[in-house]
Amino acid sequence: MYPRSFKDSNGDGIGDIPGIISKLDYLKELGVDVIWLSPVYQSPNDDNGYDISDYRGIMDDFGTMADWEKLLAEVHGRGMKLIMDLVVNHSSDEHAWFLESRSSKENPYRDYYIWRPSRDGQEPNNWTSIFSGPAWEYDGQTGEYYLHLFSRKQPDLNWENPKVREEIYDMMTWWLDKGIDGFRMDVINMISKTEGLPSAGGDRYAWGGDYFMNGPRVHEFLREMNEKVLSRYDIMTVGETPGVTPDDAARYANADGTELNMVFQFEHMELDSGWGGKWDPCGWKLKDLKATIGRWQTGLHGRAWNSLYLNNHDQPRMVSRFGNDREYRVESAKMLATFLHTLEGTPYIYQGEELGMTNVPFKGIEDCRDVETLNMYRERVTEGGGNHDEVMNAIRIKGRDNARTPMQWSTEANAGFTTGTPWLHVNPNYTEINAEAALADTDSIFHYYRKLIALRKTHPVIVYGSYEIVSEEDERIYAYTRTLGNDRLFVMLNFTGETVSFASPYPLLAGGGGELLIANYPVGEGSETSGLDAELQLRPFEARVYLLKAV
Ligand code: NOJ
Repeated sequence: MYPRSFKDSNGDGIGDIPGIISKLDYLKELGVDVIWLSPVYQSPNDDNGYDISDYRGIMDDFGTMADWEKLLAEVHGRGMKLIMDLVVNHSSDEHAWFLESRSSKENPYRDYYIWRPSRDGQEPNNWTSIFSGPAWEYDGQTGEYYLHLFSRKQPDLNWENPKVREEIYDMMTWWLDKGIDGFRMDVINMISKTEGLPSAGGDRYAWGGDYFMNGPRVHEFLREMNEKVLSRYDIMTVGETPGVTPDDAARYANADGTELNMVFQFEHMELDSGWGGKWDPCGWKLKDLKATIGRWQTGLHGRAWNSLYLNNHDQPRMVSRFGNDREYRVESAKMLATFLHTLEGTPYIYQGEELGMTNVPFKGIEDCRDVETLNMYRERVTEGGGNHDEVMNAIRIKGRDNARTPMQWSTEANAGFTTGTPWLHVNPNYTEINAEAALADTDSIFHYYRKLIALRKTHPVIVYGSYEIVSEEDERIYAYTRTLGNDRLFVMLNFTGETVSFASPYPLLAGGGGELLIANYPVGEGSETSGLDAELQLRPFEARVYLLKAV
């Protein structure tokens, strides 16, 4: 959940905690077990709360600590759990530690952050920031630079300093003692930087990820955190880890439980990035998606646990990216939901996904609020003289604000999100796509999600079964099985807007072996097959899931 965009209760145009509380019954009805709350801590909001100025205080825009305590009690009262976002690779530059740190080289907090002198009048190394520009900011007060892998208002904490680690563990313990159920850990695989902070390649500025992703001490730090904090509570942890392979993930989320429970990997989020990276969008290919998902499904089976997602607050809307957000919006949103819920791992649903919310037709850069997007636009267009239309096109496809427009609750003004002026425009399609309409329509995407969630709770094979690809080479149909003991699940997904014939390797007629668990079209007599390799006609974005007779 991205609280800024979820539900506003006081008309200031910004989502808040009382707003969330007012919608908990909706989440319960959907079947949610655990809520991951994006940051609600005190923050000057350079990156919407991912720049924290007080880890133990609630952001004024969102309410008070009393509101938050009520939220936790209301979540627990409904039998759900709450995990908080832990953002400790960096803090805000307005955090008291950083204010002290920057005040003088002798200050006891100096070493809480990563300060370096200039290198021949230039930045200490050539790393670029993930949010454009150099990863270093010069601070005139002491004549040195500080490292910020993200915006200049997000200085990196120095995890080499044991005092920093102790402060963080104390803070985590403080929240756990308040009764939270775990943490989602922001870019947690970036906390250990290679000693000496070497430059990357020979360019004036270059991507330095090799020197800060999965760095030399990251597993040591996480094992320490686990020993001192996590292992003392019955909680859930998920680490955000860009740039991990299944082998890396198997260490972070090892079955021994010495680090984290699971990680968010990014390989499938990079399939539509061209040579120029995220902002150079290209088409993605089903064969690549199969190869990536297959590698993760088989690579972690029995070794570690997968987290499953197709979008979140940092990614474009999944139906626009992997489906069809026009004539087959409903069918493709259901097909993708079927995919998400029939893999091994824990599915994460991002707010509005269950309604089939889509990307946004931003008119221009003035419609955008995201620091990553705005910095990139400034660097490429305003300062770099690049082509406005091309960059806006990339933003409409990849920009994070696509996911951050307010939740569409109803056909009321501003989609029922606020009675005031929303901090980011509502997607104009709210009159058609909204929760009120979805709840009223038994055939809606929302109710399809409910069924999928319920199925996972009924059939252990959906949660734990081992994955095997059926149609590796097919460029239109993604089919796979999941097997657990005598149970076998067979999933067929048409990833195109056309009817495609597909030879089922299993007999699917009810009497002949298959039980249809869920489908996004009516499946009637004659559309199933009793023979092996008989041709099925799968309609545009059709999804079917069968439970096969004992194997
Ligand atoms: C990942 C978060 O999900 C994203 O929203 C944020 O901008 C960066 N980490 C930096 O904290």
